[in-house]
Amino acid sequence: MDKKIYGALNLIMLFILATNINALPQVNSNSVLVALLDSHYTELSELVEKALLLQTLEKAVTLHNITIFAPNNEALERQMDPEFKRFLLEPRNLKSLQNLLLYHIIPARVGSNEWPGENIVHQRHKTLCADNYLPLTSTKSGKKIVGGVSHVIKPDDVIRPDGLIHGIERLLVPRSVQEDFNRRRSLASISAVLPEGAPVVDPRTHRLKKPAGPAPAGSPPVLPVYDALAPGPSLAPAPAPGPGGGHRHFDGESQVKDFIQTLLHYGGYNELADILVNLTSLATEMGKLVSEGYVLTVLAPNDEAMAKLTTDQLSDIGAPEQIMYYHLIPEYQTEESMYNSVRRFGKVNYNTLRLPHKVAAEEADGSVKFGSGDGSAYLFDPDIYTDGRISVQGIDGVLFPETETKVSAPTTAPTPKVVSTQRRGKLMEVGCTIAGVFGHSC
Ligand SMILES: *[C@@H]1O[C@H](CO)[C@@H](O)[C@H](O)[C@H]1NC(C)=O
Ligand SMILES: *[C@@H]1O[C@H](CO)[C@@H](O)[C@H](O)[C@H]1NC(C)=O
Repeated sequence: MDKKIYGALNLIMLFILATNINALPQVNSNSVLVALLDSHYTELSELVEKALLLQTLEKAVTLHNITIFAPNNEALERQMDPEFKRFLLEPRNLKSLQNLLLYHIIPARVGSNEWPGENIVHQRHKTLCADNYLPLTSTKSGKKIVGGVSHVIKPDDVIRPDGLIHGIERLLVPRSVQEDFNRRRSLASISAVLPEGAPVVDPRTHRLKKPAGPAPAGSPPVLPVYDALAPGPSLAPAPAPGPGGGHRHFDGESQVKDFIQTLLHYGGYNELADILVNLTSLATEMGKLVSEGYVLTVLAPNDEAMAKLTTDQLSDIGAPEQIMYYHLIPEYQTEESMYNSVRRFGKVNYNTLRLPHKVAAEEADGSVKFGSGDGSAYLFDPDIYTDGRISVQGIDGVLFPETETKVSAPTTAPTPKVVSTQRRGKLMEVGCTIAGVFGHSC
């Protein structure tokens, strides 16, 4: 993470703490909490903030000293199972994230000089995560171990009057959180296992689809999403399918169907739902990617936005698909995660499935704004659909890559298309060339 950005972020967090200090005079700028937010444990600080734990911890340090076992950035960035991290960052799993972090904090002062020696077999300390205890031990060679698994690599890294921080080499996971994760994952894989059926013919190539390769259920795909994308009108030719590209553990097709149904029920997104149902190649592609373990965030323009599309913008062959591909982000983002990142970093660029174009996002009016200038759109209906693999976020404009708006944007006011069936007709010219996977014939 960029040092400068983080510096600014820390200033903000320090400011938040400082403002709270007025409310709670017991927490002062010399607190171990302030030190944590200002330390090199930036990933941990960020998680503490995401977990909305600052207030809890402020209260804790007014009552007693605390000892924080801080996994270093390496442990939280690279050594962590991406699936587990995704689980923790899902808003509905906030409690698990909180428990995980609180498990790293002992409500007492245990400096390295108070650490049990090697002859003491077991010293368990209560943690701030209710009913969870951390054993502190020492090896024969005098190395300090916490939780039975993690070496203390920087004992007494930060010392303050109300507590201290020990740097540790790996994350400590309390059993309850591990169980929550396993439960969620096995539920997901039970409901996502596809029956082994007859060979499937790829409607695009008219060739047999490759049989699934062996890979553990739930493992993230090996290849970047662009390698898995079928070549389309707007895309660079996809490389030949590589090893590990074809494992199917998730029923992507029904997840795509589900979210289209949700869009229809939600109301105000009928145009987009139509496109997805009828542009079968697009929906198939999305279903295929999700089946293979990729995740997607759909920025869904609402009906009003779609109605503003001009004939010009739709007339090129493949234009509707290109427009839609620009609204697909190969990441799983929720309103909360996007809002948090734009608030933290100011401007964030998300990759889209329309290579190489990115979509810019920034904070505006307490919401997330995508694109820039006239071509921008606000996050309008957050989290219309979120299932852990597909996230649908309603927006109030149709987005175009920046370079393109400069070239093709009409200088005069665009003539909005009046008859919507006519527009659908145009969209369908492309979609109907391909056999309907969802059983719709054109
Ligand atoms: C924290 O520990 C220090 C040193 O042991 C002690 O002086 C102080 O009173 C403790 N603070 C709290 C809030 O218990
Ligand atoms: C898809 O296209 C057909 C024919 O153009 C249309 O009748 C149908 O309503 C469209 N799909 C949806 C979900 O509306």
